[in-house]
Amino acid sequence: MKEVKLFSAVALHSSLNLSSVVDRVTKSHSYILGQEVASFEKEFAHYIGVQECLTVANGTDALELALKGINVKPGDKVATVANAGFYSSTAIYAVGATPLYVDIDEEAITMSLDSLKAAITANNFPKAVILTHLYGQLAPNILKIQQFCKEAGVKLIEDCAQSAGASLHGKKAGSFGDIATFSFYPTKNLGALGDGGAIVTDNLKISERIKKLRQYGWSEKYKVSLAGGCNSRMDEIQAAILREKLPYLDQWNEVRRAIAITYNEQFSKLPLQCPFSLGSDYVAHLYVIRVKRDQRDSLRHFLRERGVATDVHYPIPDHLQVAYPQKKKWHLPITEFAGQGIVSLPCYPGLTKDEQDWVATQVKEFFIK
Ligand SMILES: Cc1ncc(COP(=O)(O)O)c(C=O)c1O
Repeated sequence: MKEVKLFSAVALHSSLNLSSVVDRVTKSHSYILGQEVASFEKEFAHYIGVQECLTVANGTDALELALKGINVKPGDKVATVANAGFYSSTAIYAVGATPLYVDIDEEAITMSLDSLKAAITANNFPKAVILTHLYGQLAPNILKIQQFCKEAGVKLIEDCAQSAGASLHGKKAGSFGDIATFSFYPTKNLGALGDGGAIVTDNLKISERIKKLRQYGWSEKYKVSLAGGCNSRMDEIQAAILREKLPYLDQWNEVRRAIAITYNEQFSKLPLQCPFSLGSDYVAHLYVIRVKRDQRDSLRHFLRERGVATDVHYPIPDHLQVAYPQKKKWHLPITEFAGQGIVSLPCYPGLTKDEQDWVATQVKEFFIK
């Protein structure tokens, strides 16, 4: 029997000389907002294909600062999905705004444009839309949502925490919205050795605001010129690590995609739904299959018994989280239905061929049984 982890950075990290990177920063004696951060911001903006990148402490801060950057205020509404782990909801509540939950597309399980249109009324007009490219899948309707937001005068924020490097017609996730956010949490496709996040935009006014907001609202040292600031900075070590890793991101995404292709082939005759795109618009951050809801727990149990770790991303939709009782009853049938049948399987660079075969064989055995 094999033990297969849901994620491991061991193989990937042992292929790099990260201690020399840490050494470089140690010797520079510069730890916060120094040369490494400035260089990473330039390199990441160039990689995504936008003008500006501002690093912050994590992906949730990135969402919160993005909302503040486009002037979302207490009492405003922000449209988002309810199946993306509560990160967008956390940021929306943190700025005093209210989520306007929108149902998802049946196939892609990212935001549905029809549901977005249906959710917007005169009384429920959002200041912004947060579109999450879930599991590494660039939302297939991104161009339509972009067009809709533009015509409606609503700002579009892309949450690219799971989709670093995904692209559509050569354009990267993060370059479609007015602003976009990233997380560099260690399990992400581009992961730091701790927390990290970034905001990217082509709008210099927005980036100027966020540059102040991420550091106490300072326009210069000790001069607070903008209210609503916080301390959310990436440190030099994380920036240096990310600089070391960024040149490999496309190659690692290819490896993830190749694993997804293998699984899709292996599962093609099983009664389950696989990720629907295996093109450059999917960077296989998570490989999520959908099974009948009454089979989900027994499949997970079966796999656990055979050494295969799985997870559910995410088990409780945002509108049903008990800490945030909702004033209205949301009608999100696809969100609620899809959430009950999802299972994430191991998919990351370093997962060996033997491990992939083991995972695929166990999944097949469960269904054959
Ligand atoms: C879709 C999505 N958005 C936002 C975040 C938040 O990122 P962080 O954990 O860096 O705050 C995550 C991270 O797990 C995420 O998956």
